[in-house]
Amino acid sequence: MKLAIFASGTGSNARALIQAAKRGVLGGEVVAVVSDRPKADVLQMAASYDIPAYGFSPRTFQSKTAYEQAVLERLQAVAVDFILLAGYMRLVGPTLLAHYEGRIVNIHPSLLPNFPGLDAVGQALRAGVQETGVTIHYVDAGMDTGPVIMQQTVPIDREDTHETLTKKIKAVEHALYPTCIQQLLMTEAEVKR
Ligand code: GRF
Repeated sequence: MKLAIFASGTGSNARALIQAAKRGVLGGEVVAVVSDRPKADVLQMAASYDIPAYGFSPRTFQSKTAYEQAVLERLQAVAVDFILLAGYMRLVGPTLLAHYEGRIVNIHPSLLPNFPGLDAVGQALRAGVQETGVTIHYVDAGMDTGPVIMQQTVPIDREDTHETLTKKIKAVEHALYPTCIQQLLMTEAEVKR
C-alpha cells in the first residue's frame, strides 16, 4: 500500500509514521510527503529519510480546485492509495475527497466531537475538563467531523500547562497513529484478498 503524508508544520507525527514504515511495521510505504507550506520543517525531515517531499503554495494557484488538482497529479504519478493528514492545516476540498473517498485519515489532539478545529489543547484547558485525548478519524468535507476510527484518552493534571499537555498528547499520538494505520492497512489488505 502506498501512502502520502500531508503536513504543514514540524511533522513529529509524520516522522513517527515514516519510522514505522521504515521498520516494516506499518504495512505500507510512505512514497510522498506533501506540504502546503514550502518552508515547513516536515519537508526537510522527509528528505532526510529519502522520501520525496513536495511543497506547494496554495495562493499561487487560481483556486483551491487548481491547487488540489496539482497535488492530485503528484499523488497519482506515484500511485498513492491512502492520504494521512498529520498536522495539515487546511480543509481537504472536493477534488481530493472525490478521488480518495474513505482513504483519507486525520489525527486530532482531542476526543472528538469535543474541541474540533484550531488549538484543541487550549480549548480543553480552558474548558477545565479532567481528560482529553487523541482521535484518529476518516476525513470528510467538515472540520474534524468524519467517522472515528480510534481514540485514546489523556488525563489532564491540575499542574498541566499548554506545553506539558501538548507533550503528553504528542507522545500518545506518536504511538497511536502508526498502530492505527497498521491495523487499517491490514484490514484493507484482507478485504482485497
Ligand atoms: C498534532 O497534534 C495533530 O494531532 C494535529 O496537528 C499536530 C501536528 O503535530 N492535527 P506535528 O507536526 O506532527 O508535531
